[in-house]
Amino acid sequence: MNDAIPPAEHYVGLMTGTSLDAVDAALVRITGHGMHLNGSKSLPLPDGLRRRIAAVSPGTPLREILDLDHALAILYAEAVNALLEDTGIDRSAITAVGCHGQTVWHEPDSETPTSLQLGNPSLLAQQLHITVVADFRRRDIAAGGQGAPLAPAFHHAMFASKTEPRVVVNIGGMANITLLPDANPDHIGGFDTGPGNVLMDAWIDRHQAKPFDRDGSWAAGVEVDGKLLDILRTDPYFAATPPKSTGREYFSLDWLDLRLDVRQGLAPQVVQATLCELTAGTIRDAIRKYAPDCKRVLLCGGGTRNRHLCSRIAAGLPDLKVEPTDDHGAPADWVEAMGFAWLARETMAGRPANVPAVTGAEKPLILGGVYSR
Ligand SMILES: Nc1ncnc2c1ncn2[C@@H]1O[C@H](COP(=O)(O)OP(=O)(O)O)[C@@H](O)[C@H]1O
Ligand SMILES: [Mg+2]
Repeated sequence: MNDAIPPAEHYVGLMTGTSLDAVDAALVRITGHGMHLNGSKSLPLPDGLRRRIAAVSPGTPLREILDLDHALAILYAEAVNALLEDTGIDRSAITAVGCHGQTVWHEPDSETPTSLQLGNPSLLAQQLHITVVADFRRRDIAAGGQGAPLAPAFHHAMFASKTEPRVVVNIGGMANITLLPDANPDHIGGFDTGPGNVLMDAWIDRHQAKPFDRDGSWAAGVEVDGKLLDILRTDPYFAATPPKSTGREYFSLDWLDLRLDVRQGLAPQVVQATLCELTAGTIRDAIRKYAPDCKRVLLCGGGTRNRHLCSRIAAGLPDLKVEPTDDHGAPADWVEAMGFAWLARETMAGRPANVPAVTGAEKPLILGGVYSR
């Protein structure tokens, strides 16, 4: 090491994913030696706001989009303020907030490719008196990329090993995989494997009015329906060659209902078990196909708490270690938010952070816009 190690810096990462469960805010301290989680705060999305976000479609009135953009910025500010209060750190000590924003539409493959995240970053910077970095995805999309997944560069910085081929799987609403065959950044791979929790959440919400299947215990109670599983798995997304990314505008209850039409009369619980196996199986397949030498699978995201799902992933990979990221420097629930703190740091330092081999963009790019304090 030389004597020019930069001083420690603090960043906040803000994540609201496709699950629409909560705003996750992570305070991280970045030093020359790595990154540490110094505090975290999760604010549940109020029910009304959740429903309005879930209802956004291309036909939603502009007024509603603008109101959501505003409401989310206010909620984000609340989450950051609560985090600062909890941790006792002064806002002047935060270099920047990396705000993912709330995705309401992700369509990187359309004729006019785009991905829209709401949560007005100008208003957020004004509310917080802290610099905000936001709109990470669209620069990559403008250069022909998917704009997703963006976590792989961060997963590499946090979890890559020189001696052990690893895979990181983030199971949020969607599931994405990062391939880390070694510590060489030129070898990073990754893509969205498909649905993570989103279909299971929607199905249990419809049948039991619960936001998710706690521990996967409903799914665990019955056998899967093999025929339905086959039907679901024939969706061309699963066999498509990466780069690829997806969202709830594709894998939705409408998607499921269409396929259930061909397989009527199944008990709701059997469908839940089958959806769980769909997520587990598509993750296992991605690992087998794209990381045949992998030795360790690190799991993160809310799906890590679905015990049945995790055991189904592990059961199909008996020769691999399958474990949460917790013992590797980042609690599984906070990896994504930490990632957006890290991405903000890269942008502030003027460094590109997309991985063209992952997103398909034509070149490495500095991501996002900077909204000064
Ligand atoms: N105890 C639990 N049992 C089963 N699933 C859980 C549990 N806790 C969280 N989850 C799942 O994790 C999801 C939230 O994960 P998260 O990583 O925040 O996703 P996103 O990034 O899409 O918001 C919930 O919607 C739920 O499906
Ligand atoms: Mg979430």
